[in-house]
Amino acid sequence: MRNQYHHIKIKKIINHNENLKSFVFDYCFDFIAGQFVMVWLPGIDEKPISLSSDNMITVKKLGVFTQGLFKKKEGDYLDIRGPYGNGFPDSKSCILIGGGCGIAPLLNLVFKKNSKVSTFIMGGRTKSDFIFLDKLKKSVKNIIIATQDGSCGIKGLITDVNIPKTKKNYYICGPEIMMKAVAEKLINLGINQEQIYLSLERYMKCGIGICGSCSCSGYRICADGPIFRYDKIKNLSHFNKAGRTRTGELKKY
Ligand SMILES: Cc1cc2nc3c(=O)[nH]c(=O)nc-3n(C[C@H](O)[C@H](O)[C@H](O)COP(=O)(O)OP(=O)(O)OC[C@H]3O[C@@H](n4cnc5c(N)ncnc54)[C@H](O)[C@@H]3O)c2cc1C
Ligand code: FES
Repeated sequence: MRNQYHHIKIKKIINHNENLKSFVFDYCFDFIAGQFVMVWLPGIDEKPISLSSDNMITVKKLGVFTQGLFKKKEGDYLDIRGPYGNGFPDSKSCILIGGGCGIAPLLNLVFKKNSKVSTFIMGGRTKSDFIFLDKLKKSVKNIIIATQDGSCGIKGLITDVNIPKTKKNYYICGPEIMMKAVAEKLINLGINQEQIYLSLERYMKCGIGICGSCSCSGYRICADGPIFRYDKIKNLSHFNKAGRTRTGELKKY
């Protein structure tokens, strides 16, 4: 069933800013936060996108695929398969750290029933990068924000924030360079590496562990991940250093 395409109607589109939209479906996926779906735009491409809730994806406009997605209107349909990947391990209580578009895959950990997220640390360029902020403030006791332009929270990078030291799991999502910097900061604070989980991204084709295009030093991000415990990946030669292009060539960052 997971490999079948669902022909799904877009019920609602939320415009967070010029380059960031959430697409709400009239279909709910049974999923674990951190898992992704493959969204197919016939004639354009098929790409992995994380579920930001059971019936929603949140997308940043970058290249051809996301520009195509941004042309979709409420009432249009999308062909979607999944969900795929492992998702974040179930944890009674956790600290979330999201940078930019990496905030979206973490949202369901807050909005799911019986959520026990105590702290959500978010970093972005500017205030409008933070989605569903009012709703988040109602659910999470401690929200810490850093913006590069100072329009919200402290002025600076997410690594400038005071991160609380706890025995909980830390779930990090965002650009790989940011995730590595945050993970190293956590370790310097004395946090155990086994408490730190990252969500990795690589170019994907099949999304189900067959083609190898998403390989990161032998790990298939689609099937072995996208969520990895930091100590399992931190010494991989391609972690934060290289990924494969559309044609499979290894490209250094
Ligand atoms: C597991 C997984 C989950 C993902 N979840 C989401 C999600 O929830 N929302 C979302 O918007 N995207 C998500 N992505 C990324 C998505 O699959 C596309 O790669 C991305 O949207 C760009 O596609 P594009 O074809 O529009 O741009 P491309 O044509 O691929 O890229 C256009 C330009 O943007 C750059 N670029 C591409 N991807 C990124 C990136 N991630 N960060 C910074 N620069 C980039 C490229 O180098 C290029 O210069 C996820 C990827 C993976 C592997
Ligand atoms: S995308 Fe094919 S193995 Fe991961």
